[in-house]
Amino acid sequence: MDRIACHAEETFAAMDAAHRLAKEFRARLDSLPPRAMIDHQSLLAAFNRPLPEHPRPAAEVIEELAAAAAPGLTGNAGPNFFGWVQGGSHGAGVAADWLTSAWGQNVGPYRTAPAAAVAEMVSTGYLLDLLDLPRGASIGFASGATTASLICLIVARDASLKRARFDLAAHGIFAAPPVTIVLGADAHSTIYAALRYLGFGEANLARINVDGEGRMEARDLAAQLPRITGPKIIVAQAGHINSGAFDPFTEIADLAAAHDAWLHIDGAFGLWARAAPTLRALAKGADRADSWSVDGHKWLQTPYDCAFAVVKDPAAHEASMRIAASYLDPPPEGAHDPTARVIELSRRARAFPVWALLQTLGRSGVVEMIERHAACARHLAYLLRDDPRIHVLNDVVLNQVALAFGPAGEEGDRLTADVIAGVQAENASYVGGAVWKGRRILRVSVSSNLTEKRHMETLAGSIRRALDRAAP
Ligand SMILES: Cc1ncc(COP(=O)(O)O)c(C=O)c1O
Repeated sequence: MDRIACHAEETFAAMDAAHRLAKEFRARLDSLPPRAMIDHQSLLAAFNRPLPEHPRPAAEVIEELAAAAAPGLTGNAGPNFFGWVQGGSHGAGVAADWLTSAWGQNVGPYRTAPAAAVAEMVSTGYLLDLLDLPRGASIGFASGATTASLICLIVARDASLKRARFDLAAHGIFAAPPVTIVLGADAHSTIYAALRYLGFGEANLARINVDGEGRMEARDLAAQLPRITGPKIIVAQAGHINSGAFDPFTEIADLAAAHDAWLHIDGAFGLWARAAPTLRALAKGADRADSWSVDGHKWLQTPYDCAFAVVKDPAAHEASMRIAASYLDPPPEGAHDPTARVIELSRRARAFPVWALLQTLGRSGVVEMIERHAACARHLAYLLRDDPRIHVLNDVVLNQVALAFGPAGEEGDRLTADVIAGVQAENASYVGGAVWKGRRILRVSVSSNLTEKRHMETLAGSIRRALDRAAP
């Protein structure tokens, strides 16, 4: 058989196997154990085979991959996973993602993948409409909110230095005037990571006090900003990781304008509140920022990995991100190079699943899911309200519920850790822990598209049983 016929036969057999295995997996999402069921050594043993010296049939390898991975899969595609804000990879996006892989497009310059570039352009319009952000903004299709924030903060840094008449391209970052990053004391850890990658250290940060929900205090921001000289970038947050709370964007945007500061909003999951009529008010004023990072793979349910680096000024976005080379042809009139909005030259066509998902869900599908998840979070708080040992530490405004058990202090922290371990051991639902406001908490994040109120009842039952076992 010639190479092409052989390739077709082999890949079709592998694709058929993958298709069957994926359907088998998806058919049991409702009963999927939310926590991976295997210890590290066993999982390692399942994968750790010698590198073959010779080719093997791909279909056989796919079967073996599925068997090795199965016990080590986390069940976040199912409805009972509440451990972190992780989406459930909606089937429409998954199907489009299969095609994306099959087509093997390289989304760099427009000419390398025209269909993918156009899907990005059109999806950009859908996203700006749903999130109600300035319609002329540009979007880079990034791998996650961490990279989306990194992209936005690179653009913010470059634009801020340009405004300060410093030529970064000529003189480099080490000769630049100091840029101050102004951020809430409860900013997400990935913002600190992005800042570190960018070369910002402790000395460049101005931390703003936060209130009991982790929201930046506008009063402290107003007090600190006049004392900061030179370029400033304010990093605000839509959706605090523990409370789901939103910074007061209207006041922050007023202060940013008054002090000539760039305003970036990390809205990894929370920015989606802007799509939902009953939640929109939480993120009022967020449209006045200069840039936003928001995930597709969390609340929008695109397959991993997918996020959006949104910049109000496309020229600033491109000035920071463009990669030019003589062998890269320019895009046609009215189009842009997708690579000029992200940090990669080559990457996956993330917009195909985004386009397919948004065409499938439509506006009302997105709104229904966001509002359902917020209702689920409120329902859980309601279900647990009557036990005096259970404390809901946050104002449940979005999809996050922060629970603590027993008294504040070591005894309560131990009890909370025991409840988390008990829920994880039962493995009907998955929750994780965190430390917030000096207390260990059990954190519930509702963000998988299959989750509905009955799953909160399952979770509440698990929590009660774990608590009764830990504190009989
Ligand atoms: C507020 C916030 N920002 C950023 C991130 C990082 O997002 P990603 O994991 O997509 O990089 C998260 C993740 O949970 C988050 O909650």
